[in-house]
Amino acid sequence: MLTEEVYKKIDTLIAKYPTKKAALLPALWVAQAANDNWLPREAMADVAKYLGLAPAYVEGVATFYTMYNKAPVGRHHLEVCHNIVCMVVGADELIDHIGGKLGVGRGETTPDRKFTLNTAECLGACANAPCMMVGDTYYEDLTTEKVDEILADLARK
Ligand code: FES
Repeated sequence: MLTEEVYKKIDTLIAKYPTKKAALLPALWVAQAANDNWLPREAMADVAKYLGLAPAYVEGVATFYTMYNKAPVGRHHLEVCHNIVCMVVGADELIDHIGGKLGVGRGETTPDRKFTLNTAECLGACANAPCMMVGDTYYEDLTTEKVDEILADLARK
């Protein structure tokens, strides 16, 4: 299921590491990016075969890290931090607010496949909590008003 282009990118990664196994995390990242931002089992199996690893091992790694999506996600994947600092300053309320606006619960995708709402562990931006990631973009010091603006902006994309 992986394309030649993906294998070429994985080759570039392998060249940077002492062993093929060491390239597993970035290789999964490349495979995910090439597949609508999620990792079907077939893609994990292809990565495993290419790196000479057991499929079960690769699946174990992919399921351990929340950054790998094991099911299809919407075009905009909202990952709201719900670790301790963000929780103290209102992450739960924000998550409920976003869910209410989008009509989805945690882990769900809107019917138009535009948004997926998920929670994440500490995003490493505690000084600017509460925060969320949408793809590669960080949004910090969130309020319900800021979230409304972000959602309206993303809805146009
Ligand atoms: S607890 Fe949310 S960024 Fe650290």
